[in-house]
Amino acid sequence: DALPALLKAMPKAELHMHIEGSLEPELIFALAQRNGVQLSYPSVEALRAAYAFTDLQSFLDIYYAGASVLLKEADFFDMAWAYLLKAKEDGIVHTELFFDPQTHTERGVPFEVVIKGLTRACEQARTELGVSASLIMCFLRHLSEEDALKTLEEALPYRDLFIGVGLDSSERGHPPEKFARVFARCRELGLHLVAHAGEEGPAQYIINALDILHVERIDHGVRCVEDPALVKRLAEHGTALTVCPLSNIKLCVFDKMEQHNLKTLLDQGLKVTINSDDPAYFGGYLHANFLATFEGLDLDAGHAYTLARNSLEASFVSDEVKAGWI
Ligand code: HPA
Ligand code: ZN
Repeated sequence: DALPALLKAMPKAELHMHIEGSLEPELIFALAQRNGVQLSYPSVEALRAAYAFTDLQSFLDIYYAGASVLLKEADFFDMAWAYLLKAKEDGIVHTELFFDPQTHTERGVPFEVVIKGLTRACEQARTELGVSASLIMCFLRHLSEEDALKTLEEALPYRDLFIGVGLDSSERGHPPEKFARVFARCRELGLHLVAHAGEEGPAQYIINALDILHVERIDHGVRCVEDPALVKRLAEHGTALTVCPLSNIKLCVFDKMEQHNLKTLLDQGLKVTINSDDPAYFGGYLHANFLATFEGLDLDAGHAYTLARNSLEASFVSDEVKAGWI
């Protein structure tokens, strides 16, 4: 069967990957040792065994604990470089990495340390791997809008080092409109805008992300199917959904891959992409997501082509660069 080879070899973009979610247990332990950080798990195996999630929050608790070992610029570089090597292996030609500065600045790590380490890895990926990589700064939605505005101020001296902003963390009870002012400010600054919506939250959160935040893509968005008018709107506007199949299974958004609605979304004409979200926690990088999805939903080479093209089209690179890929 030639399909797995095609899935790996076809040029594609990854548009929904949290760099802190690429931190493997082995690297967490190595960084803990290097930085003298005490972990509450005795071993790599014990930590990995704790990766049994029931919902988004049960994952986030352990994801933020894992990130506590990141202190120095070299730590952020090492984390991002490890991911970028995997990206190269999986046939990714362009990746837009989410990072969560508040997870680090809250612990006293300067914003500059975070962004410089990540940027150096992105630059090295371009020169040494031929992989293009950009950064998208996410605001943590469980924190206040004031906190997000403060983070944006801290980020402004490094405005040229990231291409956009996103919204992640606990979705339920933290609707998009909570961040209307900070997104309006980012829009004035010419930043690209995305937001997680419709992962655990209702379809209305997707509508509000579009109407109030003016986002250009929806991260996850799988609950759009609960509102047929919204599905029609997303299809007509060609709004991309950055779907994360293995994440959805691990966080119990769907019981098993056979029940995932990705194929339904594609059949309804939505601009769907496949992404890994937090690959170290959810059982695999981008290629593993493609394999599991194609197997579970019985997709074919035509779907592969559509998904790869969608990912490149929905990326935030210039039209000239896109024309070279598509
Ligand atoms: N959803 C919300 N916040 C996140 C996720 C996610 O899947 N991954 C990392 N932060
Ligand atoms: Zn995500």
